[in-house]
Amino acid sequence: MCGIFAYLNYRVPRTRKEIFDTLVKGLQRLEYRGYDSAGVAVDGPRKEGNGSICLFKKRGKVTALDEALCKNDSIYLDAELDIHFGIAHTRWATHGEPSAVNSHPHRSDKNNEFVVIHNGIITNYKELRKYLNSKGYEFESDTDTEVIPKLIKYLYDNRENDYVSFSTLVERVIQQLEGAFALVFKSIHFPGEAIATRRGSPLLIGVRSKYELSRDQIPIQYNNGDFIAKKNFRNRVDSSTSLHSVCDRKAVEFYFASDASAIIEHTNKVVYLEDDDIAAVAEGKLSLHRVSRCAGEESARVIQTLQMELQQIMKGNFKAFMQKEIFEQPESVFNTMRGRICFDTNTVVLGGLNDHLKEIRRCRRLIIIGCGTSFHAGVATRQILEELTELPVMVELASDFLDRITPVFRDDVCFFISQSGETADTLMALRYCQGRGALTVGVTNTVGSSISRETDCGVHINAGPEIGVASTKAYTSQFVALIMFALMMSEDRLSLQKRRLEIISGLRQLPALIKQVLALDEHIKSMAEELYQQRSLLVMGRGYNYATCLEGALKIKEITYMHSEGILAGELKHGPLALIDKDMPVIMVVMRDACYTKCHNALQQVTARQGRPIIICCRDDPEISKCAYKTIEVPQTVDCLQGILSVIPLQLMSFHLAVLRGFDVDCPRNLAKSVTVE
Ligand code: F6R
Repeated sequence: MCGIFAYLNYRVPRTRKEIFDTLVKGLQRLEYRGYDSAGVAVDGPRKEGNGSICLFKKRGKVTALDEALCKNDSIYLDAELDIHFGIAHTRWATHGEPSAVNSHPHRSDKNNEFVVIHNGIITNYKELRKYLNSKGYEFESDTDTEVIPKLIKYLYDNRENDYVSFSTLVERVIQQLEGAFALVFKSIHFPGEAIATRRGSPLLIGVRSKYELSRDQIPIQYNNGDFIAKKNFRNRVDSSTSLHSVCDRKAVEFYFASDASAIIEHTNKVVYLEDDDIAAVAEGKLSLHRVSRCAGEESARVIQTLQMELQQIMKGNFKAFMQKEIFEQPESVFNTMRGRICFDTNTVVLGGLNDHLKEIRRCRRLIIIGCGTSFHAGVATRQILEELTELPVMVELASDFLDRITPVFRDDVCFFISQSGETADTLMALRYCQGRGALTVGVTNTVGSSISRETDCGVHINAGPEIGVASTKAYTSQFVALIMFALMMSEDRLSLQKRRLEIISGLRQLPALIKQVLALDEHIKSMAEELYQQRSLLVMGRGYNYATCLEGALKIKEITYMHSEGILAGELKHGPLALIDKDMPVIMVVMRDACYTKCHNALQQVTARQGRPIIICCRDDPEISKCAYKTIEVPQTVDCLQGILSVIPLQLMSFHLAVLRGFDVDCPRNLAKSVTVE
């Protein structure tokens, strides 16, 4: 969704220009999360002895904002600021069209007394807006977010004591909010101070200091929960001002972001906020506190060291992140397996599941839940999971699973597949299953994400940061992780050993085989040159490769905007055949597996209607080549792994089609990475 970035320098002199550059660079790193408008708030010149805040907002991509900032001569760019806090945001519209006024930071009033950046969605914003309207507050945007700065100003204006701390005000604000949020606040009343908080949307803080950080744990201050009653905006006496320090008033810089990729170039020391944590920086000290303590809750947040490398989030020589990520798959798939498969003993150990393995083995049913590409990873591996676990396996789209109020039992094991680990529908399905007593397992690519924290156990796919909005390497790594789970579950089954060995040996060869598929790039590009002006593209297959068709069609539609459908070849005669004629472009996936003859029949049906299919098939298959208009020949592997090799040509095809059609591959219209709203 949207991207949050904020930067506070304390006794580290920076010019305004340097501060703008840091904020803009941070936004550019996050642009894949949203790119319809962007904005920043920084300190302006002092007015009559008081501080002021300047807002700059622009519709369009971050470069548009950057250009506007560079051209702006109302603000003295060379001025050096010893202490400063700036906030920035890149938006993906949910409430209100993309426009400067709807973009963030949002403000409390024309004097910009309080400004806020927000990720997520405030579900009770209408009620709050009505209440604040009745108190005389006027709104300028159509967003849900704007209630937040107005509400904090209302609480500030109506405070009982002269002194109220910034963090107390924010505590009171979040008591009134329903929905999901990550928020960063700035105010002219609290110059040089920053407040950040979250519930349901990710937020982390990077800390950089040339001095040793005084503690590697930040104690959390708990309040007694003496909060204003809901829907009643009375203030309470401030009781939460005793704060702990992590960096003791020395030169220090803090970076706030919704994603580690915006922080890693500045520091690898970070603190991940938990739901309802309130982080405050004042006079160079970072403090954490929250309303009240839940049973079993930690009393400190650890300062973690990010493992990510800067190089991982740079495009290098590639035209787009998506292209880079497609080409990273030999390594990303290898990293998913690294240290988990012992090829000498043919054993698979997923450390994150070990403690719950007995329970998983005793379960009655496996339910795999995800959205989009992550759902397809479940479709792709369902058959082998059924075969090796001998359990019923359901694969569910998170939204539909929730809509159906699907029965879930204590002896179910529910898998939540998510690259980002933050997808709202998947997260809600997780909470739903937890509420029904099922064991929950996360399969994510993001350490510290909500899904990885909230599940009982899980597997990190270790594919490395995925920046392109269209998911590619995460899919193949999720695929491999689920196959490894099936192998681990079947370790003791004598009757399955031959099959297991075949799959383990297939996994060992996989990175090398992926490289061979990637070598077909030029060939695939030449086919894209023939196809790019078409309006539609059908992708057909069955069995293990049905998921390839769904995933290939999703890639094509999301970045090329062509109509594309993944069709189960077994359903051809039940409707889709009516679409076939000499002009309808069709890609068929026909692999040498148990469905080969049936796929061949479907192929005959297509050619009999003058269809001219491009066929993704195994190398050296003269039978297929005879019926094909063109072929993309990939190496053959074990049937249940073939989908990894057959999907890559479709990833490459969608990439080339999008480039030829002149679209921005990494920023497809109307889409954003990490969908943290329902
Ligand atoms: C498609 C794509 C989306 C995501 C979906 C789930 O290329 O990226 O369909 O797969 O939004 O996202 P995660 O995996 O982060 O839960």
